[in-house]
Amino acid sequence: MGVSELLQVSGRLATEFPWLIVSKYFDKVDSTQERIVQWIPKMEDDGAILVMAESQTKGLGRQGRTWISPPGGVWFTLAFPMKSLDVVQAAPFSLVSALQVVNALKEVNNLECVIKWPNDIIIDGKKLGGILLSTITKFKRNWLLIGVGINVNNDVPAGLEKTATSIKQVRGQTQGRSRLIEAILHNIWTAWQDFDKTGFGPYQKAVGERLTGVGKLAKVAMGKKSTQGTLMGIDPQGGLLLKSKSSTETVHAGEIVGTLS
Ligand code: BTN
Repeated sequence: MGVSELLQVSGRLATEFPWLIVSKYFDKVDSTQERIVQWIPKMEDDGAILVMAESQTKGLGRQGRTWISPPGGVWFTLAFPMKSLDVVQAAPFSLVSALQVVNALKEVNNLECVIKWPNDIIIDGKKLGGILLSTITKFKRNWLLIGVGINVNNDVPAGLEKTATSIKQVRGQTQGRSRLIEAILHNIWTAWQDFDKTGFGPYQKAVGERLTGVGKLAKVAMGKKSTQGTLMGIDPQGGLLLKSKSSTETVHAGEIVGTLS
């Protein structure tokens, strides 16, 4: 295990996945999400860029939060050129990416994870990983960045033991990361090939089946505001459906901060 495992898998990726035009590995980097941007202007062809790291010193989480990324986890960002979708239409690819990670964790580690809208990967009620989706619109083409963070063999950050977990903790021993990384890359790339043509619609059912909290009273934060209602599922655009006494509301941006029943 350790550093050399990621270096080895990183060396194999370009042959395994011809669509991966640029594949970079760092022992330590500030944030793969930030670092990847420097290769975008050099990309002439279709295909993807991958930046993976053993550890990050300034890992980024959603809503401007810090993502603690010590050695032993899976921390990478994939960048795809956007061909037909606009930035708004591409946003629910965060849910689709979470689904692909959940599927890979089942295929490779036999773990049954669920998705907490919009991007958390949950097992046994605790957060195992997350997706950070962002778009870059300042170049010739628009680019989608998909940041994937999974606690694998790293310890969960101090203070988060009640809400976060790792594969090592769930399985009771350390796990190889190569097959998991390969499965996630394959799944996300394959899904993107369809999603860039169809948008979220065809994924509504599969994501809905893996969604946690359905039927429960949920509190959802939207910036400084919040709302609550019974979680009914997701709509064809990936929005969260919340039912209150008088109506059903769709939340397009925000995050579930608690289920109350
Ligand atoms: C979340 O807040 O749940 C999303 C976390 C995403 C973390 C990953 S780790 C690889 C990539 N680089 C970053 O700086 N963040 C994402």
